[in-house]
Amino acid sequence: MSDNSNDFVNLDIPKHIAIIMDGNGRWAQHRGKPRTVGHKAGVDALRATIESCASLGVEVLTVFAFSSENWRRPAKEVDVLMALFMLTLKNQAKRLHKNNIRLKIIGDRSKFSTTLQKKIVEVESLTEKNSGLTLIIAANYGGQWDIEQAAQRMLHESINKDIPLAGLDISNFLSTAGMPEPDLFIRTGGEKRISNFLLWQIAYSELYFTDTLWPDFNQDGLKLAIENFSSRHRRFGQTSEQINEIV
Ligand code: IPE
Ligand code: IPE
Ligand code: MG
Repeated sequence: MSDNSNDFVNLDIPKHIAIIMDGNGRWAQHRGKPRTVGHKAGVDALRATIESCASLGVEVLTVFAFSSENWRRPAKEVDVLMALFMLTLKNQAKRLHKNNIRLKIIGDRSKFSTTLQKKIVEVESLTEKNSGLTLIIAANYGGQWDIEQAAQRMLHESINKDIPLAGLDISNFLSTAGMPEPDLFIRTGGEKRISNFLLWQIAYSELYFTDTLWPDFNQDGLKLAIENFSSRHRRFGQTSEQINEIV
């Protein structure tokens, strides 16, 4: 691992970074290549970002790999994305485990093939006791789906355990339950929208948008994002004076 973590000295390292990895298709098209070539290059960029985050001591990295709306893409592209997901899990499981990374997949997995679902369970259990970076991959994920499934499970719990709904906290039923909320939200690829990624969880995240296409995103890009994050004044509804008193 090339470790340039010294470059990040004096920066405020977010505990949880959430990334919309956008721009793979355009990256490939700019090179006269099929979009799927961009997705493959995107996996390499992800691997590098995971390593950077792990060496910086980031606790949680959540990445958007496939949205619930991405099924609307041409079947061939969807097939390649599914195959790539399977292949990446297969090829990277040992490496992630060796690097003490805990992997979690969030999203509605019922639409995936049985083989892919089995692989997900296998990699999650292999890495579940790891204490380093938690890597959350959002696949067939939608922020609206997450809130809906949380509300349904919360209602069941309330009925089954005879607890008033008001006594339950929806955060504990979201697919990111137990994780700190994202401090820094990054979207590559130039678009300034959330595209149904984490909705509830980004209530107080600092938002950072870059034109860099995902396959070109690297440690320098991450540094720029973290530098920008470090310069923000997070107030969480309070006044600057109150925040300064606390510090
Ligand atoms: C993001 O890149 C990857 C997925 C959505 C799976 P895109 O494929 O959306 O790339 P662009 O935005 O078309 O360039
Ligand atoms: C968001 O990118 C989803 C992922 C990166 C997985 P999209 O490319 O699907 O988003 P839109 O369609 O531009 O909003
Ligand atoms: Mg896109």
